[in-house]
Amino acid sequence: MFNFFKKKENNSNKDLDIALDYDNIPKHIAIIMDGNGRWAKQKGLPRSFGHKAGTETVRKVIKECNRLGVKYLTLYAFSTENWKRPKDEVNVLMNILVEYLRKEFNELNENNVVINHIGDITGLPLECQKELISAYERTKNNTGVTMNLAINYGGRTEIVDATKKIIEEIENGILTINNLNEKMFSSYLYTKNMPDPDLIIRPSGEQRLSNFLLWQCAYSEFWYSNINWPDFNEDDLRKAIFDYQNRDRRYGGIK
Ligand code: IPE
Ligand code: IPE
Ligand code: MG
Repeated sequence: MFNFFKKKENNSNKDLDIALDYDNIPKHIAIIMDGNGRWAKQKGLPRSFGHKAGTETVRKVIKECNRLGVKYLTLYAFSTENWKRPKDEVNVLMNILVEYLRKEFNELNENNVVINHIGDITGLPLECQKELISAYERTKNNTGVTMNLAINYGGRTEIVDATKKIIEEIENGILTINNLNEKMFSSYLYTKNMPDPDLIIRPSGEQRLSNFLLWQCAYSEFWYSNINWPDFNEDDLRKAIFDYQNRDRRYGGIK
């Protein structure tokens, strides 16, 4: 079944009337929300304005994913390497997160969104931890898109953490080496119970993973764009999905 989107009056800066195949919507989209700082700099504003503006894009993208029937939307919000940034910027990011969860909670909940998180949240300020846990507890039974906020997330740490848990279980006789396989390994990752991302989107012109979902990306399709995250909108998301639908996913085989 094909569905034709008309240009939205209020948000579109592009002439995109895209035909999407509703039977082939990616189940899991993961986005590296990049370019907030450059967006602000180009406007002569402090970087924090870019981060704040980025939350508006989050709101648009979640709504659109819900509408299109995307099941999982993983948003890279803070990496294990982002602690290298000046303390002020880290504080701004943590505050924006708490503010976002408080301000947007009702709307997200009304839209049936599950507010989940991945990453080592024990490394975050207590207030952030509390908001994240409480948002999950209050939305875990919702049936719409699962928004996975990747916070204090690092793909390598995730793999090391999984390995530690596995070794512990082997030592305690819960697991045997012979039982360990790819599927089993995946079940020790933060993303257990989720399908691997079908589509990874990175705005802002960078073409790298920056330690994002290293294990899970094995067969993800990548989509890059020069648009900075605060300027990214529903049309860009549809364009990414449209391109994804025209890729040939062979998984190493022949079609
Ligand atoms: C992404 O925007 C947000 C985070 C990494 C937290 P950046 O802050 O990386 O923006 P640029 O890359 O400097 O433009
Ligand atoms: C990746 O962006 C992390 C997030 C978007 C949260 P960065 O801006 O930190 O990545 P690099 O430093 O350009 O690789
Ligand atoms: Mg960046």
